[in-house]
Amino acid sequence: MAHRWKNNLTMSDVTPRDTYLNRRRFLAATAALGVAAGAGPAQASAAKLKPNSWQEITNYNNFYEFGTGKEDPAAYAGALTTSPWAVTIDGMVERPGAFDMDDILAAMTIESRIYRLRCVEAWSMVVPWNGFELADLLAMAGVRPEARYVRFETLYRPEEMRGQRYPIVEWPYVEGLRLDEAMHPLTIMATGLYDKPLPNQNGAPLRLVVPWKYGFKSIKSVVRITLTDTQPRGTWEKSLPNEYGFYSNVNPNVDHPRWSQASERRIGGGLFAKKVPTLMFNGYEKDVAHMYQGMDLAKYY
Ligand code: MTE
Repeated sequence: MAHRWKNNLTMSDVTPRDTYLNRRRFLAATAALGVAAGAGPAQASAAKLKPNSWQEITNYNNFYEFGTGKEDPAAYAGALTTSPWAVTIDGMVERPGAFDMDDILAAMTIESRIYRLRCVEAWSMVVPWNGFELADLLAMAGVRPEARYVRFETLYRPEEMRGQRYPIVEWPYVEGLRLDEAMHPLTIMATGLYDKPLPNQNGAPLRLVVPWKYGFKSIKSVVRITLTDTQPRGTWEKSLPNEYGFYSNVNPNVDHPRWSQASERRIGGGLFAKKVPTLMFNGYEKDVAHMYQGMDLAKYY
């Protein structure tokens, strides 16, 4: 398997201890902690992120397959059968096929990653995920050299996903990444939260997490991953192309047509909590900015 991003962020220990970390790994770790890269481990531990509570993370959700209200997913996602589950990996891969979730889990090393989650609606949380790097899953199928993008698809099962009985958006929900974004060590497939299995409302049994992009890129309950040479069009990009672009990198300098992206409301901060400034690439700038060098981020929003 390719590189591995050595994880140092567990719930009980957020101080990077491994003195043999290479710089890249260390930068990723500090970025995930929300501190300036270059700060030493001491500062890193002082500035550690406090995750939102289980209650907050599992009761304030966006999962339109179960309704558009923030509490709908917690109320209705219990109807979803998540086992058995298979993920089809196809397109430009060496070994296309349906990969059983149990076989995927047996092959992957589950890690803890504490990441910021910034929704395009200008609220945010800090989430202690469990999961594995997407790059490792793609390696199971073997990415062919001509592949340039990755397309993801959510399950379509209106009998269990009541929101899919209404044309809220085009079903199934689709998202996409450039291949280098998909292979980036910060990009994970989450299988759990707080060391427990992922609740259905958060995208069980397998959901994408791309922490430097707006939350809608982090597609839930994935059943299909397609390697392609064509830029995929995501559900939101298709519905409202002037509002949602393919990249959707968190960017406080590029506003959404209907609201400012300069600041955000932390879930759990209380009704009268002040908004906090939004960070470029959601705080992961040192790790990801190189992928967008020379690009006009107002044009490629
Ligand atoms: N994935 C699917 N399939 N359907 C959705 O409606 N909503 C997205 C994203 N993934 C969504 C989805 C949006 S807008 C956000 S902000 C995050 O999921 C929310 O993730 P959370 O509920 O785990 O906080």
